[in-house]
Amino acid sequence: MSPIIIYPILIFSLLILPPPITADQSFISVLITQTGLDFVKNLLVKKAISTITPSPISKIDRVVNIPVIGKVHTVLSDVTIYRFSVGLSQVIPGPTGVSIAGSDVTCRLSMKWHYSYGSSLAPISISDSGTAAIEVNSMEMGVTLGFNIQGGSMKLSTIKCNCHIHDISIDLDGGASWLYQGILDAFKDEIVSAVEKTITKILKIEIAKLESLLQSLPKQIAVDDVASLNVTFVNNPFLSDKSLGFEINGLFMENRTDTHSYGNSLQPPVICSDPSKMIGIALDEAVFKSAFALYYNAMFMHWIVDKIPDQSLLNTAGWRFIVPELYKKYPNDNMNLNLSLSYPPVVQISLQNIDATIYADLVIDVLDGSDIIPVACLSLVMSGTGSVKITGNNLASHLKMDDFTMSLKWSKIGTLHMFLIQPVMWTLIETVFLPYVNARIGIGFPLPIISGFTLQNAEIITSDSRITVCSDVTYYESFNSTQVYTS
Ligand SMILES: *[C@@H]1O[C@H](CO)[C@@H](O)[C@H](O)[C@H]1NC(C)=O
Ligand SMILES: *[C@@H]1O[C@H](CO)[C@@H](O)[C@H](O)[C@H]1NC(C)=O
Ligand SMILES: *[C@@H]1O[C@H](CO)[C@@H](O)[C@H](O)[C@H]1NC(C)=O
Ligand SMILES: *[C@@H]1O[C@H](CO)[C@@H](O)[C@H](O)[C@H]1NC(C)=O
Repeated sequence: MSPIIIYPILIFSLLILPPPITADQSFISVLITQTGLDFVKNLLVKKAISTITPSPISKIDRVVNIPVIGKVHTVLSDVTIYRFSVGLSQVIPGPTGVSIAGSDVTCRLSMKWHYSYGSSLAPISISDSGTAAIEVNSMEMGVTLGFNIQGGSMKLSTIKCNCHIHDISIDLDGGASWLYQGILDAFKDEIVSAVEKTITKILKIEIAKLESLLQSLPKQIAVDDVASLNVTFVNNPFLSDKSLGFEINGLFMENRTDTHSYGNSLQPPVICSDPSKMIGIALDEAVFKSAFALYYNAMFMHWIVDKIPDQSLLNTAGWRFIVPELYKKYPNDNMNLNLSLSYPPVVQISLQNIDATIYADLVIDVLDGSDIIPVACLSLVMSGTGSVKITGNNLASHLKMDDFTMSLKWSKIGTLHMFLIQPVMWTLIETVFLPYVNARIGIGFPLPIISGFTLQNAEIITSDSRITVCSDVTYYESFNSTQVYTS
């Protein structure tokens, strides 16, 4: 066996493309670190090996000159490659590409042999046949792939795809002893080159599978009936000697039409403080703005409150001493509160906090028989702080109210004394509005994670105008191109 030479083999390599002339807007960036690339590489290698089916090699047919015996017509047929294993593999990202160095690849071949010969003295044909096992002991294989964003999809191109065998050993089952040496001498190179060609073909098939997986990634992930997250790839992949990054549009959109776009400059790549995390996903403030704007426009942000913990407050009698005029005009009538946001919530992400400001109008309705009579309207400005966490592959949030101010917008029931109403409103906000909001945002929305992968040990970093999720991933099922994102 020849010495094991480990030389870098490029299995994965990304084309460095010229910098884009005009950068598309991107609000979510995803960075796959060295650890993440190792994980994906191991997965791909394992996946590829487990899906490789025994592969036939075309028949080798030749007349060989064997010493003493003379010309022998030899046929090697039914040559099949099976039992494939990769000893070492290594992924090395770099500014000019991401490479995987692999070596110590082994596989086995089974085949049938047949020979026949006749001599000039005795023109009787002598023939024999049997089987043989070939062991490929030291093989290197490599693929160089180019990545390119085209029409919002990740496109793969095969720059290089090769395989090199250092050594094989042949084990004949039966046959004459001269045959072994004869076959070894005459066919070794041919077998090696046939195997190399076949393995290269197998690699190309695996690349095509990966390519079709990438091509099948959807351009949007449904969040609910109303919204989808636009996960169209934009710009070119980001490459360094530590990671591979890419950018996606990342804004919320109606699941039917395109209505929003935000102007924002391109952000620097994702930064994770813990370099051992596999991936980093950075979400710009604009992602949240687009979500709120969308839901606001979809008119999903208003509530008719007709049940509260202290139900007596939904009857004018309960307001008898707070707003005497109300009781005087509509004695003992039921009421409801019509709360609607007057402006999309404003979110500001900073190093310390996620600040949220909610602007709402609260219309007090009196229910007089079947009539709904609006009697007053209050303007509320609520401010709170948000926190985010990962549940499954969703980014979920929770809001805590810190403060609120209110003012009277209009009234048909005279002046309202704000200092009397304020505590009542605060209770309503805390007991009705906030739990409702938290129930909704607590579900969160799906981060762009390919199906089968789950975030694990995620860490969330807030920085100026962005939220970064740094996480490891685990893999739990086979690639399924019909359902490529999970939430
Ligand atoms: C889009 O919204 C409609 C209703 O507004 C809903 O029926 C449909 O299922 C949604 N589509 C997706 C992909 O969420
Ligand atoms: C999704 O993002 C892409 C890339 O930024 C953009 O071209 C496309 O118009 C967006 N789609 C919608 C529906 O907003
Ligand atoms: C609630 O108030 C909004 C305006 O603030 C109004 O458009 C809507 O019709 C009201 N709904 C009910 C049921 O009163
Ligand atoms: C892929 O996902 C679809 C939809 O969830 C399912 O019907 C199908 O059986 C899955 N295929 C495999 C190979 O898991």
